[in-house]
Amino acid sequence: MRILVTGINGQVGWELRRQGGNLGVDILGVDHAALDISDRQGVLAAVVSHRPNLVINAAAYTAVDRAEEQEAKAYAVNCDGPAWLAAACSQVKIPLMHISTDYVFDGTAQQPYSEEDAVSPLGVYGRSKEAGEREVRSRLDEHLIIRTSWVYGVHGQNFVKTMLRLGKNHHELKVVADQWGCPTAAADLAAALLKLARQIKAGTKRWGTYHCCGATATTWHGFAEAIFARCRGRIALQVEKVNAISTAEYPTPAKRPSYSVLACQKLAQDFQIRLPELSISLTTVINELALLEQSGP
Ligand SMILES: NC(=O)c1ccc[n+]([C@@H]2O[C@H](COP(=O)([O-])OP(=O)(O)OC[C@H]3O[C@@H](n4cnc5c(N)ncnc54)[C@H](OP(=O)(O)O)[C@@H]3O)[C@@H](O)[C@H]2O)c1
Repeated sequence: MRILVTGINGQVGWELRRQGGNLGVDILGVDHAALDISDRQGVLAAVVSHRPNLVINAAAYTAVDRAEEQEAKAYAVNCDGPAWLAAACSQVKIPLMHISTDYVFDGTAQQPYSEEDAVSPLGVYGRSKEAGEREVRSRLDEHLIIRTSWVYGVHGQNFVKTMLRLGKNHHELKVVADQWGCPTAAADLAAALLKLARQIKAGTKRWGTYHCCGATATTWHGFAEAIFARCRGRIALQVEKVNAISTAEYPTPAKRPSYSVLACQKLAQDFQIRLPELSISLTTVINELALLEQSGP
């Protein structure tokens, strides 16, 4: 199976490349320099010339705060990009898997969000991603929109890397404790996407929107404590105390949902795919980061 993956150097794209090879899947990865997904003609040319069986869009404008002042750029990548990809896939009659976000919700729910819950994004990033979802739905029937959340991994920039950097230089940290979400290992998400690809190849006709995130709901503060607990004996840190603070004490340009836990039962029912608990996935990532540190630059 040949899969064209956009944004191959992002957290998820990088894991798709790493795992695809092991599974015998032919990953045709293109980075931002090779294909700007906001370039309509470039997207069509790439899809036509590579002749994949499936496209996975792992490219996105993911700078949540910067998006507030770069609205046009965020929309070009997160809305126009998936629109051109869906149009190109429609033209050559192949499916598209597009990754979206928990930030399409406003966070006022009291229980995990299902795929049927109303969207109401709070910031430019969430609005641009939600607009991208609508473009995909309107242009291509054979699509899977996979909403995920709080992505972390060994490659790229993420909360785990930020905590490790800060934890090496500070004895005390302050981390927000009133925003809830589900940390998702990029490796677990990539594995799920490749399982979906196999089911598409096997002839599944289930299309639409699915939630796919790590099985543990926590706060950024809880996530930070879990990270530091796993570093003990593996990665040397200065940090001794992680203080819980409120969102109001850590103002950011973009407003974030206070609760963006996603219910993933639909994915489990339709595709028998469940992502692991945080304790398992985070240990794997910390172990790999520790090994990388030991092996030096
Ligand atoms: N990170 C999270 O916490 C999170 C949470 C929920 C959902 N998601 C979604 O999950 C997906 C994957 O996220 P990720 O964490 O892997 O993101 P990431 O690490 O930021 O990677 C995104 C990649 O997209 C590339 N890109 C940006 N603009 C592009 C363009 N115009 N054309 C082609 N490529 C472009 C970037 O390249 P450059 O760096 O060279 O620009 C980067 O390699 C995205 O759809 C994102 O919205 C992420």
